[in-house]
Amino acid sequence: MITTLEARNISVSLGRKEVLHGVNFTAQAGQVTAIVGPNGSGKTTLLRAMTGEVRHQGQVRLNGADVADMQPWELAALRAVQPQSSSIAFPFTVLEIVRLGLRAGLSAADSTVPLQALEAVGLGGFAGRMYQDLSGGEQQRVQLARVITQVWKPVVEGAPRWLILDEPVASLDIGHQFTVMDLARSYAARGGGVVAVMHDLNLTAMFADQVTLMEAGQVAATGNPCAVLTDATLARTYGCPIPVNTTPPAEVPFLLPQARAYLATGSA
Ligand SMILES: Nc1ncnc2c1ncn2[C@@H]1O[C@H](COP(=O)(O)OP(=O)(O)OP(=O)(O)O)[C@@H](O)[C@H]1O
Ligand SMILES: [Mg+2]
Repeated sequence: MITTLEARNISVSLGRKEVLHGVNFTAQAGQVTAIVGPNGSGKTTLLRAMTGEVRHQGQVRLNGADVADMQPWELAALRAVQPQSSSIAFPFTVLEIVRLGLRAGLSAADSTVPLQALEAVGLGGFAGRMYQDLSGGEQQRVQLARVITQVWKPVVEGAPRWLILDEPVASLDIGHQFTVMDLARSYAARGGGVVAVMHDLNLTAMFADQVTLMEAGQVAATGNPCAVLTDATLARTYGCPIPVNTTPPAEVPFLLPQARAYLATGSA
């Protein structure tokens, strides 16, 4: 059984502009794979190409199968996608939103999953609340609960399922960032696949097994966090000095981005 999500030579044009230029990307089930890179570098576009939401050249293979040959229901049973932003126009309760994941994943057998998913994202007791009345971070965690409901069991009949998350911690406080990243790690540890677009490079270093760094529609670097998150690579890609150190004893890279003004004054 092939247990990868793979993008081969993906190019995407939006409007008149080619925004992805022959991108190759592989994520392994059992691992958390982060996609990082500056605004506009093509992270969301790469995810949308891999989930079939945007027309692309090249091939996407999910657990070894070409997604172009798969039916929407087959894809929905194998992978769940949390978009960068979701707006809900109708007055739904939190539980109604999370239950949408149950239907998408064809796993109607266990109707307790949505409540378990809400507990897992720290929203036990929120089921009856109106979605629109929640804070931004709470809404984001409801969306994650919907997504994990869809692919609740990380492995089904020997096949890994996939969480594909576009900035899942973007509006979360630090405690809930850890809750969500712990969830991602646990999903991977139980055999599932996780691909997450991230901006926080320290969180990425702590939680990701593999990192792909995007720059201007191409892959600038890929590998484990120590290999990708280096002073030279980050300074070149982000255009500012980002000295990288490592924590003892686990040797996890940590970064302290330095504003130019701060460097210029040399103040402590
Ligand atoms: N519909 C569109 N038409 C034209 N250009 C687009 C369209 N959607 C996105 N782009 C461009 O494609 C490029 C990649 O966008 P993408 O959303 O993939 O970036 P990103 O890496 O996810 O950035 P961010 O960190 O801001 O979310 C950007 O330059 C963007 O302006
Ligand atoms: Mg994006």
